Parts: sequence; structure tokens; C-alpha cells
Amino acid sequence: MGKKILVLPGDYIGPEIMAEAVKVLEVVDDRFRLGLELEYGLLGGAAIDAHGVPLPEETLASAREAEAILLGAVGGPKWDHVERHLRPERGLLAIRSELQLFGNLRPAILYPQLAEASSLKPELVAGLDILIVRELTGGIYFGEPRGIRTLENGEREGYNTYRYSESEVRRIAHLAFSLAQKRDRRLCSVDKANVLEATVLWREVVEEVAAEYPDVELSHMYVDNAAMQLVRAPKQFDVIVTGNMFGDILSDAAAMLTGSIGMLPSASLDQAGRGMYEPCHGSAPDIAGEGKANPLATILSVAMMLRYTLGNADAAVAVEAAVSAVLDQGLRTPDIYSDGQQRVSTTEMGAAVAAALQE
Ligand code: NAD
Ligand code: IPM
Ligand code: MN
Repeated sequence: MGKKILVLPGDYIGPEIMAEAVKVLEVVDDRFRLGLELEYGLLGGAAIDAHGVPLPEETLASAREAEAILLGAVGGPKWDHVERHLRPERGLLAIRSELQLFGNLRPAILYPQLAEASSLKPELVAGLDILIVRELTGGIYFGEPRGIRTLENGEREGYNTYRYSESEVRRIAHLAFSLAQKRDRRLCSVDKANVLEATVLWREVVEEVAAEYPDVELSHMYVDNAAMQLVRAPKQFDVIVTGNMFGDILSDAAAMLTGSIGMLPSASLDQAGRGMYEPCHGSAPDIAGEGKANPLATILSVAMMLRYTLGNADAAVAVEAAVSAVLDQGLRTPDIYSDGQQRVSTTEMGAAVAAALQE
């Protein structure tokens, strides 16, 4: 029996980008003799259509048994009308929570070939290498009580709860500090401690954990300033650690510094380093079926899977080098296209990376 990888293509462009990531994974499996066994499952809208729920029991059971999970993206207008608790996105949140994938690593790295595609001036982003560590199973995404209720005066009110326990903050802080130790040893904790009590505690706990990592320089920043600094002078950051919602927002902003949201991979890890790997972007319904989706974020998520869960740094580096090689060849999906380059489709891009990996 090989190492089981559960593949969840998801919705809209999900299956398109996943087909390309699987092409690459099959080549890497062969070249590095990884002995992988791919199994497919349903999550999100695809699961709603087949089983009426966004996270079927069967998918969760396979996920628990798998060595690692690869996810495309879920959601889209087709399921906008379904009941709130049955939305595709709830399936994604549930699998993250069920598997305790609390540590979401979102590296924003500029490939030098894409300096032109960045929304910032080349000199501001040259050499950019930021790691956003987003807490993924707590905060306002999961806090109770939550809902929409009708008040006595007949008016409706929507409400959510922003909460973090000490232990939740401590474990994400440890993860972020230990990752910072392997990099430039600078960690910036992003919060809103000037307003929100939950993040006052967040800051206190991060400070406590810092005592165990004297070699890492810790700073704190309010999230509004962090959003501004990310687009003003992004290279000031090494590792950023932040809560679920702030991390969601800041990582989409950071994506554009690297040329496109289609370039940002992610790893969602549990305490043991097992994980789910997925691009940071969504199901992009606006371009689905047109061959325009950039598969590189998903392919780079495969590299993260090789590095973090399968413990094969050589294979990870090979995938990243293959991506770099196709960028050197001038191949560009529309989202990263600039004058003088060669415009390619989703499948052409995937095939080119797979070919570069074979050489
Ligand atoms: P989105 O990330 O899907 O798209 C935002 C914009 O970026 C769109 O213009 C899209 O065309 C573009 N884009 C995204 N990925 C791209 C790629 N690989 N290549 C080229 N362009 C790309 O965000 P949205 O439109 O706000 O959300 C669409 C759906 O996806 C929603 O249902 C949302 O909930 C869901 N979503 C899912 C995930 C996930 O599964 N992890 C993440 C984010 C959003
Ligand atoms: C992401 C997505 C998800 C999130 C949604 C689809 C639930 O935006 O992975 O960034 O907000 O976490
Ligand atoms: Mn997001």
C-alpha cells in the first residue's frame, strides 16, 4: 500500500487547476519513487450536488486516513441559495476544524521573472519572501454565539463572536516562532489590540511565547497599519502571524505583490505536521471553463506538501525549480501575462511544468 493522498478538486476552476497539479504530482511520484496512491473525494458544491452536504462522512473518513490532502477550491454562485449551514465554504471550514489544521502557512514569494506582473513597482518587490502564518481553526470564523436573529423591535441583527483561548494563541505562536527561526528570524504579530480584547490577550500570549525564542525579533502591528505597510514597503516583513480573519485578508493582498492570486500556495497543518494543501485563491467562477486559470498556486501547494508532510525537500525543490523554468521560458497564463511573453492556457502551463520536471 502506497502513501494515500486525498485529492479534492472542488468547484468551478477547482477541477481545472487540480488536473494540472495531479499531472505534476504523478511525474514527481515517478521521479522520486514516492509510492503515492491518489484517491479522489468530494467537498463543497460538488459534494452538495452528490450528497446534499458540503462535507460528506465519506470524505472526512478518507481525509483522516490520508497522509495528506490536496484541495482545489470550493464554492460559487451555483450554491448561493443553499441554506447557510450547508454552503460549500462550510465544508471547507468543517474539514479544517475536524482535522485541527490550525496552522495555515501562506508564503508570498516573488519569482523574479514576474516582477512586471506585480501590482507594485519592481524595486519594492524584488526579492520579496514573506511568510504569513494564519490561525485557521479559531477566531471569528468559529466563535459562538453566531447567527442572525430578530430583535424585539422586529429588526434583524447579524452577530459573530471574535474569541481566542490562550492555548489557541500559544500553539500558533509556537509554530510561527519556530518557522521564523528557520528564516530571517523576524516575526511580526498582527492584531487590533487597540480595540479588541480578544487581540489584547493574543498580544500578551505572543509576548509570553517570545521568551522561549530569544533569537527571534518580535514586533507587533495593528492590522490596518499592516495592510498599509504590505503595499507600501512589503520587504520589511519576514514572518507575519495573525488570526483567522486578518490572515485571510492580508494574504489575498500579499498575493498581488507576487503578480497574481494565482501564484499563492498554502499549507494547513495540524500539530503533527499532517496537512491539507491548497491555493489561497477561490473557485474563480468568472473564468471557469475558459482555460484561463493559473494552476501554479496549486502546483506550488504540491511542493509544500512534499516539503512539510512527505518530508522530501529534494522533490519540493524540484517542483519549484520546474515552475521557475517555465517562467524562464516566458510562459504566462493571462493573470501574469505581460508584453513580450507567451500566453498559455491552464493545461499548457501544467504540461510545461510536468515536462520541465521530467528533464
Ligand atoms: P476568487 O479567489 O475565486 O477570485 C477572485 C479573482 O481572482 C477573480 O477575478 C478570479 O478570476 C481571480 N483568480 C482566482 N484564482 C485565479 C487563478 N488561479 N488564476 C487566475 N485568476 C484567478 O475569489 P471570489 O471571487 O471572492 O470567490 C469565488 C468563490 O470561491 C466563492 O464562493 C468563495 O467563497 C470561494 N473561495 C474558496 C476558497 C477555497 O476553496 N479555498 C478560497 C477563496 C474563495
Ligand atoms: C480562504 C478562503 C476561505 C476562508 C473561505 C472560502 C471559507 O477565503 O481559504 O482564504 O475564508 O478561509
Ligand atoms: Mn481567502
